[in-house]
Amino acid sequence: MPQSERPVGVIGVGYVGLVTAVCMAHLGHRVVCLDVDEAKVDALRAGTVPIYEPGLDDLLAGARDRLSFTTSYDELCAASRVLFVAVDTPPSPSGDADMSRVDRVVREVVARGGERLLVMKSTVPVGTGERVTAELEGAGATSIGYVSNPEFLREGAAVDDVLHPDRIVIGSYRASDGDEVQALFAQVETTVVRTRVATAEMIKYASNAFLATKISFINEIANVCEVVGADVRVVADGMGLDHRIGPHFLQAGIGYGGSCFPKDVQALKQLAGNSGYHFQLLNAVIEVNHLQKRRVVGKLSERLGRLRGKHIALLGLTFKPQTDDLREAASIVLAGRLRAEGARVSAYDPVVGPGTHNDVFPGVEIAASALDALDGADAAVLVTEWPEFVALDWSVVRERMHGRHVIDGRNALDAGCVTAAGLLYDGIGTVDQPLATGDPVGSPEAR
Ligand code: UGA
Repeated sequence: MPQSERPVGVIGVGYVGLVTAVCMAHLGHRVVCLDVDEAKVDALRAGTVPIYEPGLDDLLAGARDRLSFTTSYDELCAASRVLFVAVDTPPSPSGDADMSRVDRVVREVVARGGERLLVMKSTVPVGTGERVTAELEGAGATSIGYVSNPEFLREGAAVDDVLHPDRIVIGSYRASDGDEVQALFAQVETTVVRTRVATAEMIKYASNAFLATKISFINEIANVCEVVGADVRVVADGMGLDHRIGPHFLQAGIGYGGSCFPKDVQALKQLAGNSGYHFQLLNAVIEVNHLQKRRVVGKLSERLGRLRGKHIALLGLTFKPQTDDLREAASIVLAGRLRAEGARVSAYDPVVGPGTHNDVFPGVEIAASALDALDGADAAVLVTEWPEFVALDWSVVRERMHGRHVIDGRNALDAGCVTAAGLLYDGIGTVDQPLATGDPVGSPEAR
């Protein structure tokens, strides 16, 4: 296993920072992690992973002797020259990314002096490299280099995404700085894109914005499918076979959430606007996504009439499966809208326990099991496609529910199983009738 001479530093042990740190340790590097959150650092020192991310515990356990955790910049800077920055850049009220945590990191590192390399993993607006470099020069810290190395990991698949990425993007001012970062990932077999800092920063924003655009696009197609009697799942499959389109991120549903897409699409729109460019397409992507989260409420009203006093069970609360992240989850908008309509809302999520997150879901009864949440419900909505919901025994569900409506907000359930149990299935842009026998679909005449 290769050992860099000095440990690599990672600042910020959120999703991106922690997975990056653990994966680098797994690759054989010694890594010192800093976070300002003492509780998090204490937990990590004790070997506890503070986030739900499949595979991370095992990897951390296997690389414990190469990882250390601190809250002290003195300690970090005494140990490490190459510092990965992975602090969060949440949206500010103006829609711009809030850069206060990144700015603090730069101040702390400058204050420690010395020759260093800052490697930006946080998603930062295009132009951040220029700005930070100018600040470093202004502070006389010319011995601190800067590299942009954006992260493309998905929550829930983060370890695999870091160890087996589609590409590694490295933007640098000096080739030698980029070489140094590239060498750290020498064992990772993938395409490495070497470029300027601003281009690397833009690759990150453009990638997330394009994926979000794909989702809003297929969601609008789904909505039109509902009007014309087409099935969006088959439409997406048919589209995805065209290699120029590809099959990924064409899963229609109740909209994208999470800590990245909503924030990054908004930030790119804002970034363009700040430079005088009106990014019209992104406005539509954002609006479609907002409306998509609310469409389920319309569907429920169509089926149940007035929602006041009706009992709706939500299956899943996190923004997607295999994560405990609730940021910008569709469930928050949906639960809030249903409560505002006067509905009784119960919910179950495998990683959101009863009695927790009352601040995020006021008035929502969080149950200890899916069947408890479904007990007596007039309608059920699949919000997050956790495998355990896909595997539900729908005849048992039918016995527990009061009503019969099941809205599949992720098009993940087997409509046949749901309807066979005597329930009424409703997807997003789907047609649940199977083709009649003898239908000429697939024959050359039918094309
Ligand atoms: C996303 C990107 O996929 C990562 O490449 C990127 O590194 C990350 O943001 C980031 O910027 O940090 P993530 O937010 O973890 O990753 O989750 P995704 O798997 O991309 O899903 C985002 C949302 O889109 C979820 O709510 C998901 O349910 C939704 N989605 C995804 C759809 O509605 N349809 C799809 O076809 C795919």
